[in-house]
Amino acid sequence: NGSEKKRLRIAIQKSGRLTDETLKLFKDSGIKISSNRDHLLAHAENLPIDILRVRDDDIPGLVMDHVVDWGIVGQNVLEETTMQRDLDGMYTGFNEVLKLNFGDCRLSVAVPMEEEWHGLSDLEGKKIATTYPHLLRRVMKNAGVNFRSVLLTGSVEVAPRAGLADAICDLVCTGATLQSNGLKEVETIYTSKAVLIGRDQPLFPEKQAIADMIIERFKGVMSAVE
Ligand code: PRP
Ligand code: ZN
Ligand code: MG
Repeated sequence: NGSEKKRLRIAIQKSGRLTDETLKLFKDSGIKISSNRDHLLAHAENLPIDILRVRDDDIPGLVMDHVVDWGIVGQNVLEETTMQRDLDGMYTGFNEVLKLNFGDCRLSVAVPMEEEWHGLSDLEGKKIATTYPHLLRRVMKNAGVNFRSVLLTGSVEVAPRAGLADAICDLVCTGATLQSNGLKEVETIYTSKAVLIGRDQPLFPEKQAIADMIIERFKGVMSAVE
């Protein structure tokens, strides 16, 4: 329909570590979004932009399936999803439009505080709970360590205490989550930041003009805080 040609559709994280800073970037860039957080779809009041609020894990797929024009997501989720989709024979094309100046974090292995640590080989034959099995497997393969992954999409930090796993591999930002769960970070396997990605297809000219303007505004906002 017509709106698909004219309105730029952007997927963002509904609630999580990227949400507040994503909304602040929009606000600082003069994009006024209706504030009802419960709605999946929100519209900018002053620009032809639609905002889709979804789980961050769904954002790369929405871009790769050409369902949205842009998405704001962590490189960790982007790379993990790409590896999964490659295995599933799904399309993995996208463009990196802009690196953003927030969302810095790392994917790390953590073990119970009282455990001794000598290196990844300590995990030989062990169970590791994670939401990122492909990123973890790549690193463990390079290290020549065999392990079993326990896939959890949430509450990963509880797994060792609950007896589900010996270690975890999860995202660490401030370290507060690990701390409060009696875990210590022992090995960083991936560093990540937020990126703006786009579908790898030309946009309709009207939409491209809006996209170009927004990119310039985002760049302006980011350079102002440097
Ligand atoms: C990550 C991770 C931890 C938390 C770590 O979750 O899974 O729960 O952030 O942050 P901290 O070191 O500052 O305590 P995220 O917000 O990415 O959400 P999700 O796991 O629900 O996608
Ligand atoms: Zn997530
Ligand atoms: Mg989490």
